[in-house]
Amino acid sequence: MSTSNVPVIAIDGPSASGKGTVAARVAQALGFHYLDSGALYRALAHAASQAGIALDDEPGLVALAQRLDLRFEAGEIYLAGAPSGDAIRSEEAGRAASRIATLPAVRQALLERQRAFRQPPGLVTDGRDMGTVVFPDAQLKVYLVAGVEERARRRYNQLIEKGIDANLEQILQDLRERDARDANRAVAPLQRATDAKLLDTTDMSIEDAVQTVLRWFGEASPHEPRR
Ligand code: DC
Repeated sequence: MSTSNVPVIAIDGPSASGKGTVAARVAQALGFHYLDSGALYRALAHAASQAGIALDDEPGLVALAQRLDLRFEAGEIYLAGAPSGDAIRSEEAGRAASRIATLPAVRQALLERQRAFRQPPGLVTDGRDMGTVVFPDAQLKVYLVAGVEERARRRYNQLIEKGIDANLEQILQDLRERDARDANRAVAPLQRATDAKLLDTTDMSIEDAVQTVLRWFGEASPHEPRR
């Protein structure tokens, strides 16, 4: 059965912009499914390092992506049946994900897995290319940004709250590097889709961002697919 008429809200943006939190809350408010596409890249990078596959071994990574036993359940990601916990949430895992995400065949191997999440009654998803490549016909596309220093502060606070050691200057430098790599890669770079609405959350609370996306979705016609 075709799922192309199942509504999708695609939220793209740079690292640590808060798009994951906003997307998850919007999904919860609407009773929609939620796909954290970055988690797929993080999980693949993590599985590769465990299997001794180099982060630039494109064929090895593709083969791993095809056989990877990955399940999303109640906010947890299971890798080969075991909860991945914080292993894929570290800065190191994010850096590794950003590296493998530059490889075209790896992105291709993850494409259908992402599209399979489009199930009734709807999907909210976040990443870098959800509105441009994976779901170009999404009913609502949001490009969610925040200033890099504000993003570094948010990430720093998140890590400290979890009891993980963190260094603000180091985080800022890492974010700048990841921004540059994600935006400048040849395939599916981070960019605002021409029909994406811009949401700058630098001075905005999560709750206000969630309400804005919900209002925009209410205004978007579900019967008029956008390009
Ligand atoms: O959203 P995140 O920080 O969890 O993503 C980790 C990395 O994965 C990010 O730096 C780039 C890559 N990624 C991507 O290339 N395309 C996506 N749709 C999502 C993530």
